[in-house]
Amino acid sequence: MQFTTPAGRNPIDQLKVVGKPVTRVDGPLKVTGNARYAYERHEVVPNQAYGWILGATIAKGRIIQIDTAAAEAEPGVLKVLTTLDRDPVPPGFRATVHLFGGAEIQHYHQAIALVVAESFEQARAAAHLIAVEYETAHGRFDLAAEASGAKPIADRDSPDSPIVDRVGDFDAAFAEAPVTLDESYATPDQSHAMMEPHATIAAWADGTLTVWTSAQMIGWHREDLAHMLGLDKEDIRVESPFIGGGFGSKLLLRVDALLAALGSKATGRPVKVALQRPLIINNGTRRAGTMQRIRLGATRDGRLTAISHHSLNGNLPGGFAEAAVAPTRLLYGTPNRDLALKLAILDLPEGNDMRAPGEASGLMALEIAMDEMAEKLGLDPVEFRIRNDTQVDPAKPERPFSERHLIECLRTGAERFGWSRRNPSPGAVRDGKWLVGLGMAAAYRGNLVTPSKARIRLERDGRLTVETDMTDIGTGSYTILAQTAAEMMGCPLGSVKLALGDSAYPASSGSGGQWGANNSTAGLYAACVKLREAVAARLGFNAEDAAFADGMVTSGNRSVPLAEAAKDGPLTGEDGIEYGDLDKRYAQGTFAAHFVEVGVDSFTREVRVRRMLAVCDAGRVLNPITARSQVIGGMTMGVGAALMEGLAVDRRFGYFVNNDLGGYEVPVHADIPHQEVIFLDYPDDKSSPMKAKGIGELGLCGVGAAVANAVYNATGIRVRDYPVTVDKHLAEAPQRA
Ligand code: MOS
Repeated sequence: MQFTTPAGRNPIDQLKVVGKPVTRVDGPLKVTGNARYAYERHEVVPNQAYGWILGATIAKGRIIQIDTAAAEAEPGVLKVLTTLDRDPVPPGFRATVHLFGGAEIQHYHQAIALVVAESFEQARAAAHLIAVEYETAHGRFDLAAEASGAKPIADRDSPDSPIVDRVGDFDAAFAEAPVTLDESYATPDQSHAMMEPHATIAAWADGTLTVWTSAQMIGWHREDLAHMLGLDKEDIRVESPFIGGGFGSKLLLRVDALLAALGSKATGRPVKVALQRPLIINNGTRRAGTMQRIRLGATRDGRLTAISHHSLNGNLPGGFAEAAVAPTRLLYGTPNRDLALKLAILDLPEGNDMRAPGEASGLMALEIAMDEMAEKLGLDPVEFRIRNDTQVDPAKPERPFSERHLIECLRTGAERFGWSRRNPSPGAVRDGKWLVGLGMAAAYRGNLVTPSKARIRLERDGRLTVETDMTDIGTGSYTILAQTAAEMMGCPLGSVKLALGDSAYPASSGSGGQWGANNSTAGLYAACVKLREAVAARLGFNAEDAAFADGMVTSGNRSVPLAEAAKDGPLTGEDGIEYGDLDKRYAQGTFAAHFVEVGVDSFTREVRVRRMLAVCDAGRVLNPITARSQVIGGMTMGVGAALMEGLAVDRRFGYFVNNDLGGYEVPVHADIPHQEVIFLDYPDDKSSPMKAKGIGELGLCGVGAAVANAVYNATGIRVRDYPVTVDKHLAEAPQRA
């Protein structure tokens, strides 16, 4: 199905099932332990052997030799593979490092050997007997120290120009502006810290490979495996039906899958491999830390006339820039703009996508700057943002937003949160020993449209089976796809069976960039349209006027049970959604306003988040329960980004020191108070026939700044270097509380 003109009225608009607060259809499997994750797929293939990965203990240089004799002599060891056994293979899709092969070391904990043994313990014990001789080269590990050598670089998604966005005359407008701000902000390297590690079981049969793994994008994993193993992708099957979180870490193929495949090939046994937690952090990808400079110029009545946002991050040679200035393109309507990215070379583990790549880091800076500017102007921060709203792409005024209700997000949030009770003077409100502050931020995240296919079958018994390689990374894909099928075919939710996450099924959008929900359901919508046509033809209806509801197909005064259509054999509908240029003609975005109340201990400077509210404008909400879960998960991650998360770089040896979940701190339940989420629910007829948009990344965007702004309002101490930890307060805090 081509989606080239705005959606008209369609069967989804009935909202009998879609839009309803349905609990997760996969919930019972999850809570009873019957949803099997990659490493626990004991049932799929017998005789599984265990692999243990050895990571390099230098960050840059080369391997002179590897002695595996002692490891090979250990009991239970089936095979030791080393990186020297294999030529380097160029990086996979959107990746920078080579995963396994050759003597060169690009980053710490790069995989250099795999031990395969009868048991996990035997593999691990043997791996520690491998002796490696290195030649160490000088590595660059300190972003600030490399800043002077940094080069302008394009945003990878708009590769035309190293200057991301230069409109009007920023320098002149900034020079003339009566009120200006020029500040610098920093965000640290972050880890995805998902619960389930990267893990794979691989087995070969007749020259074909099957991997049971944990992948957000089935198609990308399959193609990269084909590339790295020199296989035809048709000879590889990738299965990933349940995933214990990803946050972007599982978009791209990682070494667990490659090594499981190689280990299995070398031993003739199925082999399972997981990344140890330290390797997740030092062998996986990170969200790159940034150093950002923001300059704002405004009129005295609070209209932004000039905006400059420059962001620097480091990455391996050939790596991407974190597109932190991306949200600044579209959030506020400013005539003179100067946005740019710079990249320095750092020999740290690869910087790549993590939830809301670009926006999450950029808004952590931009939305503090907006708070600071509002204060300079003597304006309420909500009002300041409202004054600078835009309904068109500021760089292309002929391109309107498809739907944009940021002002309503801001106003609704302010009212529901009791914003009018905020004291604008920082450090003025006390509750016993607690200094109390309110903060807010606006948020923007793009809505990405991408093709997605599905197949749906009406079985003889009237039940429906949906097949697509769409993944569910904990987001609720199973549930919203079941709702979509039930709505389109007029069936109860319980009669829809879902088969997801398997490359044997039609290729979907996958899960990433908050595009999964809208695109995968739109692909299924297209397949359902085909099935409705087949059903109508079989029953002698005109597909155009047949209504599908309550298990019946009805036209005029004739009504036939849906199941009748399949009584002589199943009927199948298979199709996908493909997009025209509606995302070019219209800026498609998602918007939010975040409000936060914190208490800061006046003695210790400990920050406690007391209340949070998000108001989201993200198209039609397909399911308010799963959507809310996405947003509160994002808000929680935003609290982590604001107050806790940061990878500590060992600048001598070039690795992340806090490489486990004890050292890399994320919020726990006790850190998170009551969270409220409000959806404005404006269907977007330019986004897809579902009229939905993304929500999973929007929930994180802006949260960090809202927390930081609340801390400022509580204390009067402005921390511009995340995370906002106690030490950064104590330096400026008064000697007496
Ligand atoms: Mo997302 S960072 O595209 O999973």
